[in-house]
Amino acid sequence: MDKQRKQLKDLRSQRWLAPDDMRSFAHRQRLQQMGLRREEFMSRPVIAIINTWSDLSPCHAHLRERADAVKRGILQAGGMPFELPAMSLGEVMVKPTTMLYRNFLAMEVEELLMSLPIDGAVLMGGCDKTTPGLLMGAISADLPCIFVPAGPMLSDRHRGMSVGAGTHTKKFWDEYQAGNIDQPEWIALEARMTRASGTCNTMGTASTMTSIAEAMGFTLPGASSIPAMDAAHTRMASASGARIVDMVWEDLRPSTFFNEHSVRNGVVTYMALGGSTNAAIHLIAVAGRGGVPLTLETIDRQGHGVPVLANIFPSGDRLMEDLYYAGGLPALLKEIREKLALDCMTVNGRTLGDNLQAASCNDADTIRNTENPVTDGRALAVLTGNLAPSGAVIKPSAASAKFLKHVGPALVFDSIAEMNARIHDPNLDADENTVLVLRNGGPVGAPGMPEWGNLPIPRKLLEAGVRDMVRLSDARMSGTHYGTCVLHIAPEAAVGGPLALLQTGDIVELDVDAGRIEMRVSEAELERRREAWKPAVRTVKRGYTRIFLDHVRQANEGCDFDFLMGHEPPVEPSIF
Ligand code: FES
Repeated sequence: MDKQRKQLKDLRSQRWLAPDDMRSFAHRQRLQQMGLRREEFMSRPVIAIINTWSDLSPCHAHLRERADAVKRGILQAGGMPFELPAMSLGEVMVKPTTMLYRNFLAMEVEELLMSLPIDGAVLMGGCDKTTPGLLMGAISADLPCIFVPAGPMLSDRHRGMSVGAGTHTKKFWDEYQAGNIDQPEWIALEARMTRASGTCNTMGTASTMTSIAEAMGFTLPGASSIPAMDAAHTRMASASGARIVDMVWEDLRPSTFFNEHSVRNGVVTYMALGGSTNAAIHLIAVAGRGGVPLTLETIDRQGHGVPVLANIFPSGDRLMEDLYYAGGLPALLKEIREKLALDCMTVNGRTLGDNLQAASCNDADTIRNTENPVTDGRALAVLTGNLAPSGAVIKPSAASAKFLKHVGPALVFDSIAEMNARIHDPNLDADENTVLVLRNGGPVGAPGMPEWGNLPIPRKLLEAGVRDMVRLSDARMSGTHYGTCVLHIAPEAAVGGPLALLQTGDIVELDVDAGRIEMRVSEAELERRREAWKPAVRTVKRGYTRIFLDHVRQANEGCDFDFLMGHEPPVEPSIF
């Protein structure tokens, strides 16, 4: 390795700092204006800490302080840290949806890294869209980078049972609607489930994506499972800071280790986790930035036969803290090692196989083995048919087995507003077999593809004991949620996908084992409806949302922007 190590003159930052000209004089002068001595930045790798902390990002509340640990590691290893704030996407706070801004964050990361004298980057995030956003931008910039996952929050208990963020909010809400929880208990629950900083402690999108990032080689071993408030998290942050300095000297960039084999490791891990449906979109987008053309069909094929081994809500009944005690992600990966490409390089300079050697499982109920999976259901099934010619997804492991093959009449809502106005009407014409449909919730329709796909069960059915129904939409669903929800229908209704042609009363047929989602409507009738269909008049005419609407691709293509997809060598800025 030594002969490949970079020399000081090779560092990217030296283009800004070393030349004896007036522009470089100004660069050095302005760093000294901030109180830095010349020797602190003239002969060291310059490391960006891209921090998605903010005062309105509860899952990242500790990252401001944790950045200090990263800095400590960078300084001790001989680098010079600079903390750069980036868009902080606190999942629950941002409206209409953080998904609208994932690509914004990716662009911001790429532009920050390319426009400044940066040699390597520590990426700090974890709340849902921040992991894919950070990775997409960093992969496109192709500078050495290491990801520091925010870490899951601590577990909580209510009435003697473990409760997890997101999953239990939905469960308790249904019970509150059904009259089984009174208002004082409901108000008391506001202070439960989220007892400390950190990401959702269920296998929602956050833990799915941070774990996938680890499996694809972007974190130190075990980093994604460490609870945010554990001292080990601070030590991991410091170690990541120290490691990025060596990565710069070794020139260990994403393009040198991120490839189709690491993406396949991400897919296999996703399935073994029982991960969030959202990960299908993000994985396609992240892989695409690395030049790996991942499709839904590929995810389906590569994930086939991988059982759900992580006994974590919503597929199981434990929390992320339990996964950590059980040995963390490395212990789970060791259980599926036959399905992994173990020779893939990771950011610590060792292969995935090397990193798994020391892993061991301490709790066989939380991390199951392949003979004793959490569920027979798969983490993700891809569906196609005349309702979703470009694909749709469902999470069988979090659905009701009795609905995985279902025929029922559609009840169609054209918008979230219409659905909210009608869904709890006591006269709603719906029973347990009705297929609830929400359209215009996709990337263009909503816009931003919010997590509206877990349509509420009508209150009159909740009161009658119904807790699941087949639901269809072109929207997404929170990874912490559960139910028989067909999601990400593509093409979406707003761009004229067949979902736009479905009418209340049409018969819908779902067959998960066969991978089919169909409406029993003749082609001639569909053609008649297609001719009558008109797109909605676009009301957003300015700002970032206009860029989003003009350039976002459909869910089956990862919802990236058409002008950012794929891998191209980054364009270095002019030095003048
Ligand atoms: Fe941030 Fe769930 S709201 S991870």
